[in-house]
Amino acid sequence: MVATVRIRQWPTPIGLGPGQVVLEAALNAGVPYPFGCQSGNCGACKSLLIAGSVELAEHSEFALTDEEKAQGLVLACRSMADDDIEIAWIEGEDLALHAQRRLDCRVAALDRLTHDITGVTLAIGSGGPFAFTAGQFVRVTFPGQKTRDYSMANRLEEPNLVFHIRHMQGGAVSAFVADELEVGMPVVVEGPNGIAHFKEAHTGPILALAGGSGLAPVASIVETALAKGRRGPIHLYFGARDERDIYLEGRFRALAEKHPNLSYTVVLSQPSGPTSRRTGFLHEAVAADFPSLDGAKAYVAGPPVMVDAMTPVLVARKMRREDIHADAFYTEADKPKATA
Ligand SMILES: Cc1cc2nc3c(=O)[nH]c(=O)nc-3n(C[C@H](O)[C@H](O)[C@H](O)COP(=O)(O)OP(=O)(O)OC[C@H]3O[C@@H](n4cnc5c(N)ncnc54)[C@H](O)[C@@H]3O)c2cc1C
Ligand code: FES
Repeated sequence: MVATVRIRQWPTPIGLGPGQVVLEAALNAGVPYPFGCQSGNCGACKSLLIAGSVELAEHSEFALTDEEKAQGLVLACRSMADDDIEIAWIEGEDLALHAQRRLDCRVAALDRLTHDITGVTLAIGSGGPFAFTAGQFVRVTFPGQKTRDYSMANRLEEPNLVFHIRHMQGGAVSAFVADELEVGMPVVVEGPNGIAHFKEAHTGPILALAGGSGLAPVASIVETALAKGRRGPIHLYFGARDERDIYLEGRFRALAEKHPNLSYTVVLSQPSGPTSRRTGFLHEAVAADFPSLDGAKAYVAGPPVMVDAMTPVLVARKMRREDIHADAFYTEADKPKATA
């Protein structure tokens, strides 16, 4: 141990190991520290450094601006310290902090949603009760596999946990899910985590923007908002490469018929033939459709490149940064160890 970290919201100090970042030490100690990408890109672990100093490793301007740094803010996932520090995570509006659980689950159903996305339904056996807010994710361990993050696609009120897992080229766990996972297998789920979740207090228009299996958390948010009687406009955009990558279209068309405040738009980036659908990139469609987004909120999920392209479009249309809630699906390979 090289230093002690006092966390304002946690009763006991935690130890920081050599080369360890504050977030990693906190999560290992069972602290429900808010986090997302763990790679300095999302801002979910933004914290106020109350005492001491940290070395801050590389991060994006979106996650932490120079102005915020000047105000004493740091990113827990990028912060290392040689001496004792005191820190507090930022309690944003409507921040969900549910009890952390370790659930023993079993695979209850497997559905082929597209040629490369599998719907995985898990029945919770023990370890509950489990609460989460729509849009959050958990750490999932399939038999004999490394642990990975996956976002819930279901609503809290539904009994089973549902995930949409895309088979990533060269990916270890997603290949196991696509080829070897079977109904009845045991699965461990830990969480919930993430702050890019549904903010119930906000009543303005919602942009729900999903790329590929990013539809999982976005579907959970849209269906939760509708179930809670949200009447304001909800614009759901789903970006896919080609026709064969579209899924749950029937479900969202039916929801849009039932709820006139929901619009549903599919945008294809690489159609293999003539199509009557919108084409281009998701951020281009949003840019074309909304001259101003003042007062609106966006929930964005999917590949990092899509999330990165979307953010400046939203900001340029006057959406406040604190109204952009993004979960980029970073892989372990995207998460380099923090080096200051
Ligand atoms: C907050 C969050 C939520 C997420 N939610 C979802 C979700 O709902 N659905 C979903 O499908 N995914 C989601 N993900 C992504 C998911 O966690 C996994 O990263 C994804 O499934 C790939 O895991 P894998 O084990 O198959 O790939 P990995 O084995 O981790 O490989 C990932 C990529 O890195 C490459 N790679 C592997 N090893 C190396 C190496 N040594 N050097 C260089 N490159 C390498 C692989 O070719 C592959 O392209 C989420 C991620 C985050 C951070
Ligand atoms: S910036 Fe720290 S978890 Fe994303």
